[in-house]
Amino acid sequence: MNSKGSASGANTEARRALRVGVIGAGVMGSNHARVLAGLPGVTLVGIVDPLPEHRTRATEFVGCRAFVSLDELLSEGVDAVTIAAPTHLHHEIALACIARDIHILVEKPIAPTVQEGLDIVDAARRAGVTLMVGHVERFNPAVAAIKQAISAEDILSIGITRVGPFPPRMSNVGVVIDLAVHDIDLIRWFTESDIVEVQPQLSSAVAEREDIALLQFRTASGVLAHINTNWLTPFKARSVTVATRGKYVMGDLLTRQVTECFGFKPDGSYSMRHLPVGHDEPLRAELIAFLEAVRTGNLPAVSGDEGVASLEIAIRCLESPARPAATTARKGPRRVAG
Ligand SMILES: NC(=O)c1ccc[n+]([C@@H]2O[C@H](COP(=O)([O-])OP(=O)(O)OC[C@H]3O[C@@H](n4cnc5c(N)ncnc54)[C@H](O)[C@@H]3O)[C@@H](O)[C@H]2O)c1
Repeated sequence: MNSKGSASGANTEARRALRVGVIGAGVMGSNHARVLAGLPGVTLVGIVDPLPEHRTRATEFVGCRAFVSLDELLSEGVDAVTIAAPTHLHHEIALACIARDIHILVEKPIAPTVQEGLDIVDAARRAGVTLMVGHVERFNPAVAAIKQAISAEDILSIGITRVGPFPPRMSNVGVVIDLAVHDIDLIRWFTESDIVEVQPQLSSAVAEREDIALLQFRTASGVLAHINTNWLTPFKARSVTVATRGKYVMGDLLTRQVTECFGFKPDGSYSMRHLPVGHDEPLRAELIAFLEAVRTGNLPAVSGDEGVASLEIAIRCLESPARPAATTARKGPRRVAG
């Protein structure tokens, strides 16, 4: 079952509820299922996970059916799925769904390698199915307010901080693929330009992979940007600043307060105002955008090509190997949670 129906059936197709499944009942997948279960015009067919305890947790949390395998879910008939399995499985699962004409939203990063990401993009294009990548931060209302504030501006520089404690369970990726890829996507989206120069500084203070990254970029349009990310900060912080010729915009992505400074005068004075920011849950807005793209056949909000471009920049950052942090840092042991 899919929603690529013939022209004569197009209106009926667009009106009927979309049958959607979720693949992976972990942290993200359970949230996908929770949100999908509450969306109008959607029938949540179920969630797939090989682990019985994760299936049980998801069915209790969301009240939907759970399946052991992808085939079991697909045999129920689905139009679209969201793929929230571990990243190393995105390629295999995405291709299996595309081969059955099923529209897919793939969690970020699209794949572990650029080649696998390109394979997914290529297969989706040939099959004519919708492929969207889950760069959910674009749907954060504070990010949307910043994007709007700078839309007609000549952007000069962007600074993004995304720091916090170690995640409860360490996966096999470091901060660049886990965290900075969100901000690489934001820099590309804010500037509507490609990143052409990358200057990474990486360090591994506690984890095997990099747990501190200071990344500098230049876009084709000439914007300078930097990302400061780490797992060594005891509290979460996410902030964005954008300097344009006419404005300085500051956003806190957690409190969702966005402020702009403008009207700069020769005597150094300027005006400030808080910008209106919406209240949407980012994941809900993301899934609505995906399903809208499925229904209309329009380009999704975050395309596969964009997901691959951000992954490619993140991987370029990793080409300079992480070095151990200052030797003194080794003296004071830090606890890695989980
Ligand atoms: N957009 C975001 O902000 C964001 C945040 C966290 C994670 N992610 C991404 O979401 C994906 C999942 O991350 P997570 O933190 O939820 O991980 P997780 O480990 O909590 O969940 C992954 C789940 O997939 C299940 N799984 C394993 N093999 C499977 C298979 N063959 N079929 C179906 N399910 C399978 C696991 O049992 C587990 O329940 C990753 O790609 C990650 O990068 C995105």
